Amino acid sequence: MIDLAAEFPLDPDLVHLNHAGVAPWPARTRRAVCDFADENTRLGSLYYPDWQAREARLRVQFAQLINAPSVDDIALLKNTSEALSLVAFGLDWQRGDNVVGPAGEFPSNRLVWEALGPRFGVQYRAVPLDGQDDPEAALMAAVDGDTRLLAVSAVQYASGLRLDLVRLSECCRTRGVLLCVDAIQQLGALPFDVQACQADFVAADGHKWLLGPEGVALFYSRPEARERLHLQQFGWHMVAAVGDFERRDWRPADSARRFEAGSPNNLGIAAQSASLSLLLAVGMPAVAEALATRVTAVIEQTRRRGFPLRSPIAPARRAGIVTFHVPGVDNRRLYVRLMAAGVLCAQRLDGLRFSPHFYTPPAAIETAFERLDALC
Ligand SMILES: Cc1ncc(COP(=O)(O)O)c(C=O)c1O
Repeated sequence: MIDLAAEFPLDPDLVHLNHAGVAPWPARTRRAVCDFADENTRLGSLYYPDWQAREARLRVQFAQLINAPSVDDIALLKNTSEALSLVAFGLDWQRGDNVVGPAGEFPSNRLVWEALGPRFGVQYRAVPLDGQDDPEAALMAAVDGDTRLLAVSAVQYASGLRLDLVRLSECCRTRGVLLCVDAIQQLGALPFDVQACQADFVAADGHKWLLGPEGVALFYSRPEARERLHLQQFGWHMVAAVGDFERRDWRPADSARRFEAGSPNNLGIAAQSASLSLLLAVGMPAVAEALATRVTAVIEQTRRRGFPLRSPIAPARRAGIVTFHVPGVDNRRLYVRLMAAGVLCAQRLDGLRFSPHFYTPPAAIETAFERLDALC
């Protein structure tokens, strides 16, 4: 039995409802970082093979998290933006090609596609999803014979809308379009099965629902899709014969390690591996179930107060994000005051974004709304 209160010894005055932003670390992650610092200080890299074993373990953990067919499909990168950039600038483009995605994406999943325009003459088609009953149909309606790639966040960062990736990937495969998923707002919150959704590329940094530090990201590539990416970064760590420094000839690793140019972020890897060990021990179905009750509790509190929601209500359309508007007040100012009152959240759209996690004590959600009431 995992003692969640001991794993999350947050300051008692703080209510943390910002897992869609930057999450707090579990206690075991803090220990992993302290232990690694301690080891480095006393022993340097004496046990470097152990660090390599931990790196290998993190690949296994990530593969397990998304049900990847092989650890060879997993690369450890710096962040989501880096992974998406390797896709965008790795593919062969023809002038007149286009990329389709939802309007209102987080900048990391928009700029990279917009950047293709000036360089290659590729158009980025941003499809508004607000008020769409069938967002997948709206996206696919924008796909035409020149579309090469569909770029979506599994869960929209502002509204929290969750897309049906299985449906999107079926359409993509029929139309010969690649599917690239920014999964940062889903991994660690809900189960994710890359074999079920058949995405070509999946990217996610670890500092949100995965409860890790910033700077360690998962990049999954389906082997056939991987072959289509020209490499953008080069170094000792990405070659097939890694560690053979005297060898003059080289070729990229067959595995996704080919995207990892140089020295790994071993400190971040130690931390992320510890955080993932917690999520995997609890199990993603149990995490998702516990999170769903917290999300329902937030929605219930907004309903009681008559606050209009900016997030979908249908369980199949939500993950861990609830965004709502507080009528009659300046929501930006309210956000600043709420943060000062110890409710860690975000200001998104024209309102407040609350994002609890599976371990959030239900009483903390009540406290957050009581503090909000006191400011209105
Ligand atoms: C949908 C989405 N993608 C990406 C990011 C962050 O990107 P990166 O990992 O490059 O910092 C965020 C952070 O808020 C996000 O919400």
